[in-house]
Amino acid sequence: MAEVTRERWTSRAPFIFAAIGSAIGLGNVWRFPYITYEYGGGTFLIPYVIGLLIMGIPWMIMEFGMGRYFQKGAPGAFESIGKKWEWLGWWPVWVAFLIVTYYTVIIAWSLRYAISSATVEWGMGQAGAEGAGDFFFGTVLQLSDGPTVLGPPVWFIFGLLAFVWLVIFLIMFRGARVIGKVSVGLVILPWLLLIVLFIRGITLPGAVDGLNFYLAPDFAVLGNVEVWFAAFSQIAFTLSLGMAGMIAYGSFIAKKADVNNSAIITSFSDAATAFFAGFAVFSTVGFIMQALNIPIGEVSAAGLGLAFVSYPVAISMMPGANALVGVLFFLCLFFLGTTSAYFLAYGGVAVPLMDKFGWSRIKATLIVTIACFLVGILFTTQGGLYWLDIVDRAMAFYALLITGALACLVIGWFFGPGKLREHNNETSDIRIGAWWDWFIRLIVPAGLIFVVVVGGFMKDVPEQYEGYQVGALGGSHVIWLILGVTLIFSILMSLIKTKSAGGGE
Ligand code: PHE
Repeated sequence: MAEVTRERWTSRAPFIFAAIGSAIGLGNVWRFPYITYEYGGGTFLIPYVIGLLIMGIPWMIMEFGMGRYFQKGAPGAFESIGKKWEWLGWWPVWVAFLIVTYYTVIIAWSLRYAISSATVEWGMGQAGAEGAGDFFFGTVLQLSDGPTVLGPPVWFIFGLLAFVWLVIFLIMFRGARVIGKVSVGLVILPWLLLIVLFIRGITLPGAVDGLNFYLAPDFAVLGNVEVWFAAFSQIAFTLSLGMAGMIAYGSFIAKKADVNNSAIITSFSDAATAFFAGFAVFSTVGFIMQALNIPIGEVSAAGLGLAFVSYPVAISMMPGANALVGVLFFLCLFFLGTTSAYFLAYGGVAVPLMDKFGWSRIKATLIVTIACFLVGILFTTQGGLYWLDIVDRAMAFYALLITGALACLVIGWFFGPGKLREHNNETSDIRIGAWWDWFIRLIVPAGLIFVVVVGGFMKDVPEQYEGYQVGALGGSHVIWLILGVTLIFSILMSLIKTKSAGGGE
């Protein structure tokens, strides 16, 4: 039986660090601080923490618990519930697969910037500040005019992408034991770097103004539905749930080990990292405002713009140690991203393939590495950024939330959450009560569906996403297409019959 030979985390700490590593990522640095600023400053922490408590933690307990109960990754777990549900285990596998193909390209950009920072290649002082945008879109990405103009790959990024995959492969082909050990280092290191960047940030002139923007409370926002939707969608994204990976990581938990408390520790560590990163980011934003004498609206403080344009602007303008701060910031992104990337590639994709087809670890990880790299080449082309944006919306927003909601409903109404809860409680530090069942049956799926409808369909149905045009299709059409195709592929995967499927040999 597969259970006898299933790999295990060597002990509790490596598991928790691997889980934290998967959760903390680029989203903690460039998404959370900005959303907090945008949606009410300090007040935003209220809906955020509520989302963490009523959705994030119950959901993570479910995913860890499913992995440990069924001793399988997502498809095997759903297959054990009923053959007719196996497709629902494969859908997040496709989601994880597509996400990691572009997530690794962003990691490659980070490396590019770590290298370019050594000489502050975009220029020092005022000239550098003005040239940072052109450097990113022109020199680094060589961005084309639209998604249908791909052009050749940008070879520098292509080469770095190959390197990123080599690193990921070398870690994941040795499985959970090595992933656990490496994750301890790759989580602590960016924490240390964030402390350095925090100290650098708050000692810059103008820092306090930036922090005031970040945290100044505005209680009126609590009545605004957008704020709640923003908080809940960030919770889903930041904890790396709905992605198959946490189920696989849960399946490596030792028979007698805690589940519930590990989910709580992971969730709070992720939130704390995001909150702390906000200080490093917004103190720097305040500095940019003062150095360039511009209002906050003109500093792009979110997403790609923050990391690859605004932060470089700040580096150009800093009073000293410019190159060093730049290298540390981008290495920090590299480490944060890498732990999330091997989580997706291994827990999200390779483990399900090993479970289903009985492949060896080396075979599964090699195939996953090559397939992800090949698909990822699309995002290294001159039109790659547009595709990255579209695929990200389809997968990291829609598919993640929809598969998450469906998973909760199937566990909640067909399998029975009480079984998982009791199984978890037997070995956990903290016992959870029957109230949890109703979170899985109702509250978590309701929250996720709310986000999909209010934050998604109500925006992307009336208007084409970002106004993109791909031949006759608009941006939203392409999104529906990607969702449909991945769903069909998931159903097909579930129809493949194997000797090792279902129980494992
Ligand atoms: N949680 C990661 C972050 O905050 C993003 C991520 C999402 C990573 C899904 C893997 C899977 O950046």
